[in-house]
Amino acid sequence: MVGIIMGSRSDLKVMRAAAEVLEELGVSFELTVVSAHRTPARLYAYAQSAVERGLRVIVAGAGGAAHLPGMVASLCPLPVVGVPIHSSNSIDGWDSVLSILQMPSGVPVATVALNGAKNAGILAAQIIGSADSAVLERIKVYKARLEADVLRSAYELEDEGWKNA
Ligand code: RP5
Repeated sequence: MVGIIMGSRSDLKVMRAAAEVLEELGVSFELTVVSAHRTPARLYAYAQSAVERGLRVIVAGAGGAAHLPGMVASLCPLPVVGVPIHSSNSIDGWDSVLSILQMPSGVPVATVALNGAKNAGILAAQIIGSADSAVLERIKVYKARLEADVLRSAYELEDEGWKNA
């Protein structure tokens, strides 16, 4: 199971994309709000019970002074995928990106693009899929569909008279 957490309910508009793609890929998940700064005791309890509750990957999103992904990574042994969020208290988004990306040696957070919750969900599914062949098969199908969509758009451009290389 994947644990999706975010620093505030206001992050849900971005983070729901992680839940949606996990749903699409048939990977079970839980989703809740855990704030590193406003609910530090909840953060400790969440991170320290994650393994025994059956989580295998954590997707953590936060904006501004975005300490949630790094703190979860420091408190539990599971892989953490971090989603920098361009939130109301972000200067321009770079603050969240750098807070999540620039972790000290020994405590990695796999950081996706700004507001990149969909990719975080896919990456979490791929981590689960590395030890679950049914999930791995669904990821193969997902990637084949991406390829088909791009090829279809290339053929459509040709049909519309655009010359290809
Ligand atoms: C961060 O502060 C949260 O992750 C959120 O992105 C941001 C703003 O939170 P709210 O003031 O909207 O609750 O900790």
